[in-house]
Amino acid sequence: MQQIDTLSRETSSKHIETENILEVSHLKKTFHIKQADGKKGLLRAVNDVSFTLKKGETFSLVGESGCGKSTLARTLLGLHPSDDGSKIIFKGEDITNMPRSKHKQFARQAQLIFQDPSACLNPRRTIRQILLEPFKIHKIKNGESKIGELLDLVGLGTRYLDMYPHEMSGGQKQRVGIARALALDPELIVCDEPVSALDVSIQAQVINLLEDLQKQLNLTYLFISHDLSVVHHISDRVGVMYLGEIVELTTRDKLYEETQHPYTKSLLSSIPETDGKSREKIILKGDVPSPSNPPAGCRFHTRCPSVMDICKKEAPDFIQTDNDHSVACHLFTK
Ligand SMILES: Nc1ncnc2c1ncn2[C@@H]1O[C@H](COP(=O)(O)OP(=O)(O)OP(=O)(O)O)[C@@H](O)[C@H]1O
Ligand SMILES: [Mg+2]
Repeated sequence: MQQIDTLSRETSSKHIETENILEVSHLKKTFHIKQADGKKGLLRAVNDVSFTLKKGETFSLVGESGCGKSTLARTLLGLHPSDDGSKIIFKGEDITNMPRSKHKQFARQAQLIFQDPSACLNPRRTIRQILLEPFKIHKIKNGESKIGELLDLVGLGTRYLDMYPHEMSGGQKQRVGIARALALDPELIVCDEPVSALDVSIQAQVINLLEDLQKQLNLTYLFISHDLSVVHHISDRVGVMYLGEIVELTTRDKLYEETQHPYTKSLLSSIPETDGKSREKIILKGDVPSPSNPPAGCRFHTRCPSVMDICKKEAPDFIQTDNDHSVACHLFTK
């Protein structure tokens, strides 16, 4: 991700407030599934996850495919019901499993940008129709007068209004997806792998656009990615997920420079060096276990290069090890 790493990171005009816009505690999401043998089973895709988001910041979630990033995002946006005991507070209001009528109000303020712009734009609708949809759904009248502005905001312009998605490039379609997400002036945007379907050169442009929009509109981002170079560029803080749990949570700089969890170390060892420091390559043994049958004790113990006896028996608590740094690992509890 050379292009992204060489972009300038201007933080001067970004304003992060002390106030939490979102507080997630003990979030759990279990799916009822049919197992390979035909028997019914449970799959805990998100297991007791807690974190907060400050207004104006970018908080990223990273982790391998299947670790529960999208499920976490969809559950906190109310697109999946959460399990009992979960709590989601948005701007001071408890929105956990809120009724449909209330959800519509919340949906105006919290939007989702998807990974694949082609899959989320209706191919039979023009860009004008696509951008008018949110206004229609929420019965807002001034849609026609705002859609041109929205296209300008994402660097496209009104000449695209009467085009269909198939007439646009992947990057342009993702800009339309971003414009649609911005239509109702949201405060929180969940970006679920927003650039992974795009060419590397286009990825940098879209990341730049997201950063500019954040400063201009004081947006808060929950940014989901498996690409640690992108995450390094865009994040203020990062949570690392493994098998449905956050195993390390800290500031962007501490995550990369004072890494604590062996899983984070292995993820970071797989990215090309950009800072001249060489990291020891750590190849994890085995595959990621299934979340429908997670290992006892620490969920990472079957692949951990630093595994100890206790790790096989007891799940580590998620403890604070330093200012702004928390980790769930027995290396830090004993
Ligand atoms: N609707 C569903 N029903 C049953 N299982 C599901 C459902 N959605 C997700 N899962 C399972 O939950 C786990 C987490 O999936 P999720 O899509 O959240 O992972 P992810 O971290 O977003 O992965 P990726 O990086 O591939 O997007 C996976 O084991 C997945 O198979
Ligand atoms: Mg996903």
